[in-house]
Amino acid sequence: MSALFQEKYDFIASDITNNCNLRCPYCLNDYTQISGNTLMEETTFKKVLTLLPLVKDDGFFFFSCLFEPLLHPNFFKLLRLIPEHERQKVFFTTNLAKKLSDESLYELSTSQIHHINISLDSLIPSQFENLRKGARFDIFFDNLERLVKIFAQNKLAPRLHYITVLCKGNLEEVDKLLQVTAEKYLAKEHEFRCFIPFGFIDSTWLHSNNISEAEWKAVKEKLASSPYKYILGDFLSYEHLPDHSIYSEYEKKVYSYPPCLSLIISSSGIVKLLHMPIDISIDLHDISNPYSVFKEILSLQALDIERGKELAKVTQASPEKIRAGWFKIQSEQT
Ligand SMILES: C[S@@+](CC[C@H](N)C(=O)[O-])C[C@H]1O[C@@H](n2cnc3c(N)ncnc32)[C@H](O)[C@@H]1O
Ligand code: SF4
Repeated sequence: MSALFQEKYDFIASDITNNCNLRCPYCLNDYTQISGNTLMEETTFKKVLTLLPLVKDDGFFFFSCLFEPLLHPNFFKLLRLIPEHERQKVFFTTNLAKKLSDESLYELSTSQIHHINISLDSLIPSQFENLRKGARFDIFFDNLERLVKIFAQNKLAPRLHYITVLCKGNLEEVDKLLQVTAEKYLAKEHEFRCFIPFGFIDSTWLHSNNISEAEWKAVKEKLASSPYKYILGDFLSYEHLPDHSIYSEYEKKVYSYPPCLSLIISSSGIVKLLHMPIDISIDLHDISNPYSVFKEILSLQALDIERGKELAKVTQASPEKIRAGWFKIQSEQT
């Protein structure tokens, strides 16, 4: 058996809110299942912070993951609680749709966190407002321009990354978006991605806005000739969802591959272990010393993933067999 995994998390993804001010039509959140906004309490956040030493030095702590973090009234108070020596592991993603003061933008520029992801689907106001439903282009744009101006004055300001979700409506703009963020908006990275077509996404919208593989290939070609750096995600559709699982015939369990050690923490303080064969949730309110509890769990997770890898080697599961097995399990469960 090969050497055991390094016993550190690749990432811990947390959220400090569980709602959003927008309703983008492709959003991965099913808002029919969400009401109110559970704000992470300071005491819970302090417990989360004790887990940061368990993240690899080049790993990440998501200050926000699935929802809009700037809706938290104590966003900056929580940000300030993050120990300085851990801040290079930290980033968050925002729609930048809520009006921000210059003071707030200045504080972000001096926060010492690694980067901020800004979601930017279009620079055409009507298209922007179609895709980022509920946002006003003028407010977003004003925030962006002031943020960039303030960040440009500080060499140590967090890097700016941009995320564009590809839909029929913004395909024509991709090269322009890449060029503008690189030249005018301090982009260190610009990711273009297909959206994951979750079953709850409005099917009429999906039908007329989801891009085809041919369109995705055209984007790929267009971006390839651009002098600017970008990341292009995989083509995704119902038929082309990537499957990274390892199926073990013996255990009838699914392991993620490539294996990745991670935790996800909701704003209510529920920690879920990702990519484990059984669903495990731990409420941070129930434990007084999260660091020692999760250090122990981490060793077991590392062992489990290593075991999954070895099992896959033994069964020599081909991707087709893995996929077939996964769907078999899914259909048996439903
Ligand atoms: C879920 S959002 C949360 C952060 C924030 N509300 C925002 O949109 O910037 C995080 C990122 O995921 C992207 N996203 C939303 N729905 C998606 C989907 N179905 N598939 C892939 N990415 C998606 C968003 O555009 C955004 O860049
Ligand atoms: S802004 Fe982000 S979280 Fe909000 S609806 Fe859009 S993609 Fe979803």
